[in-house]
Amino acid sequence: MNRNLALEFVRVTEMASIASARLMGRGDEKAADQAAVDAMRSMLDSVECDATIVIGEGERDEAPMLFIGEKVGSGNGPELEIAVDPLEGTTICAVGGYNSISVMAIGQKGCLMNAPDTYMNKIAVGPEAKGCIDITLSPTENIKRVAEAKKCRVQDLTAMVLDRPRHQELIEELRNTGCRIHLIGDGDVSAAIATALPDSGIDILFGVGGAPEGVIAAAALRCMGGDFQGIFHPRNDEEVARARKMGIEDMNKVLNIDDLASGNVMFVATGVTDGSLLEGVKFKPWGALTHSIVMRSQSGTIRHIQAEHHFDKKPRY
Ligand code: FBP
Repeated sequence: MNRNLALEFVRVTEMASIASARLMGRGDEKAADQAAVDAMRSMLDSVECDATIVIGEGERDEAPMLFIGEKVGSGNGPELEIAVDPLEGTTICAVGGYNSISVMAIGQKGCLMNAPDTYMNKIAVGPEAKGCIDITLSPTENIKRVAEAKKCRVQDLTAMVLDRPRHQELIEELRNTGCRIHLIGDGDVSAAIATALPDSGIDILFGVGGAPEGVIAAAALRCMGGDFQGIFHPRNDEEVARARKMGIEDMNKVLNIDDLASGNVMFVATGVTDGSLLEGVKFKPWGALTHSIVMRSQSGTIRHIQAEHHFDKKPRY
């Protein structure tokens, strides 16, 4: 994959983040999401590639744009697969909270898992704990292993968990280990990435969140040298049937990071609201400031891009 493509894709998340950030705090999740989808879709066709959406806004009949299987890009150039979440953290954006981002993972054909829109049980860690996690073991055992790998005490570790009633038992067990816990309202892609950021203070992500978000987080962690495991966690028989339709035979299989994102992958994200990973969009009299991250698994380079967008010169905005 041409490395310059990553910089083309970041223009797409920049545009989506600016569009949704305009609607920050309005209490309208759907409008913020739709603005991000529209902007992402319109910008994607300017990228020189022949790409297919493998993770998107849903299936063709329920999503007018960025649906799974939709062709995007100019139609010329490398054949790619793209996983998109135009607005990860719709509720966060709607209430003006912390950590909503616009995000894409890009891989060569066959590299990104076509995950159904169900839940997934996940564990994510940064590079120092790579190879130590095992989602089939208890959270207690995983915490012990991470402490050993990081040569610290369990009390010095911080686990991030989505604050949901379904995680009550998990949270209880983690409290009993003595580790610190950071409960978040939404946004487990940023949370997974935080485990691989040296200064985030987050060591491990546990819990059940969206499966599509799991694939995107796995792509980011492959670029950062971290680790990720997931197991599908369907809510009902209908979700199992949909997964089967998408070619997933064994819903109980432990999915390793390479099962979710293999080969050369790229990851791009732009902050919509301020967060641990990225600053949010700041509007100025002349335009807007954005903060993005661009990563490639091939080189391991992590680029932070601060951009000034001058609206008088960019009619698209
Ligand atoms: P949306 O942007 O689609 O609202 O997703 C936010 C999110 O918090 C994800 O980060 C997470 O994987 C998922 O929702 C968890 O789902 P639920 O809110 O149903 O517990």
